[in-house]
Amino acid sequence: MTISTIQLNDTQRQQLIEAARKVRENAYVPFSHYQVGAALLTPDGDIFTGCNVENSAYGSTICAERTAVVKAVSEGVRQFTAGAVMTRDGGSPCGACRQVMFEFAPDMLVILVDEAGKIHYEGSLRELLPLGFRLDQE
Ligand code: THU
Repeated sequence: MTISTIQLNDTQRQQLIEAARKVRENAYVPFSHYQVGAALLTPDGDIFTGCNVENSAYGSTICAERTAVVKAVSEGVRQFTAGAVMTRDGGSPCGACRQVMFEFAPDMLVILVDEAGKIHYEGSLRELLPLGFRLDQE
């Protein structure tokens, strides 16, 4: 299987990273104090963002990546070419978020960046989630 990865130019990459930085400020994290911001780029050039929103019932917490996907899909947008995730340390998306992104955009580019702007990973979602589940497997 070919891992096809979209390439971003420097401006697009920076826009996506800055969108993740901005939305991360809205993270509601009274329990972990670990802020996450996610920004998804669509084929039309639009950006959907999301932050993590924690809950006193800990299991009801939603991650930043899934917030962004759910915002986009609920607005009728299901295609993503790339996504940036910003955390304090360039942390990697959890398995649930990888799978939820894979549902809509298995070939998307994923950029993991820390708050200083250092990129820790830039590569395909397929590499982060080998053999991810889809009902319409190619
Ligand atoms: N978190 C995310 O927002 N995305 C991930 O992929 C991993 C974890 C959040 C959930 C929780 O609010 C905090 O990070 C610490 O786990």
